[in-house]
Amino acid sequence: MDALEYQVGFANYFATEALPGALPPHNSPQRCPYGLYAEQLSGTAFTAPRAANRHSWLYRIRPAAQHSAFEPAPQGLLSNTFVCTPSPNRLRWDPPPIPTAPTDFLEGLMSMGGNGDPATQTGAAIHLYAANRSMRERVLYDADGELLIVPQLGGLLLVTELGRLRIEPQEIAVIPRGVVFRVELLDREARGYVCENFGAPFRLPDLGPIGSNGLACERDFATPTAWYEERDAPHQLIAKFLGHLWRASLDHSPFDVVAWRGNHAPYKYDLRRFNTLGSVSYDHPDPSIYLVLQSITETPGTDAVDFVVFPPRWRAMDHTFRPPWFHRNVASEFMGLIHGVYDAKAEGFLPGGASVHNCMAGHGPDAATFEAALHADTSQPDRLDDTLAIMFETRLVIRPTQAALDSPLRQRDYEDCWQGLVRHFEPRTC
Ligand SMILES: [Fe+2]
Repeated sequence: MDALEYQVGFANYFATEALPGALPPHNSPQRCPYGLYAEQLSGTAFTAPRAANRHSWLYRIRPAAQHSAFEPAPQGLLSNTFVCTPSPNRLRWDPPPIPTAPTDFLEGLMSMGGNGDPATQTGAAIHLYAANRSMRERVLYDADGELLIVPQLGGLLLVTELGRLRIEPQEIAVIPRGVVFRVELLDREARGYVCENFGAPFRLPDLGPIGSNGLACERDFATPTAWYEERDAPHQLIAKFLGHLWRASLDHSPFDVVAWRGNHAPYKYDLRRFNTLGSVSYDHPDPSIYLVLQSITETPGTDAVDFVVFPPRWRAMDHTFRPPWFHRNVASEFMGLIHGVYDAKAEGFLPGGASVHNCMAGHGPDAATFEAALHADTSQPDRLDDTLAIMFETRLVIRPTQAALDSPLRQRDYEDCWQGLVRHFEPRTC
């Protein structure tokens, strides 16, 4: 595969052309260079504030309108239907096995849960994927939301209308709402996590008293340059629309955008570039210190979705219980593990696995982790190296899908990890 080219920055107003002079001098001239069609792709309302406005102008061989009528398509385990009466129980799952039958990214999606509703453009859905073959003449767009893809196993080539991105475990990519793409596997097997964000597009959080540096930096985000193929071959176009899959046919590759300009575009980010901050005196900051991307709501400081990473790092807090503390939050948490061990769990939380701790459900370190930390030497910093965990944190309860609840991957003994916590209370000592 030829080298891929990227443009640096987060949601900049990019301009890129695969043929010299393909970008016209203004958005929709009477005749575009090379006989291209002009097409606008809007990711936010036309009148969204300028700083939040996302849209791109595409210059392509044929407009996206040229396809047959849609008809229902097989749904598999992809769903935005969540159980109506979820329990407050804490949930955990083993990683999904790599399929033995030929399975591409779309076929390999399994919905775990979510909240809100794509019809009202609120909330999010969370999926796992496990695949062993590339999408070829089948392409997808999601009208319900943008897709945050977090590979855990195997590299992916994301071929999109706006160019190509290559990602591997420890990197992420975001495919904006409506952008057509296909997923090719760069290895024999692929597995990972997907957050389907129905609400406001992900943005970088403000840094407040942290200042102008730290956490995820604009310079580390990469957006593809224009790339196109001129290929007259039948393609199946899958649309995800209000929770259901639909299919239409087209007689050419939809990856025929020769040039584009705008800021509604895919991007990728290397989680190893996250500038991790933490306490150097005592106690922990809240885990919002690990925030990479946020989907904001009308309530300041209360996000629909926060994408959070727990990276390798030093822990240097004196006289402090260094693993994550016991807690109960108003927010709800879906966690995944890319590799290694998460510092709140000695065992059972596996790379590729997942857990859900919903609103006000008590959780925290398991018994083995607690006892080890209780006696740890905190006079010296210690380093967590073999670890990379991620979290999709939402303001609304994460309601699981019935398939996730019934899955044989679900660890029905998850509660047991806290049952070994022993009573240390001794009122006669201090
Ligand atoms: Fe938590």
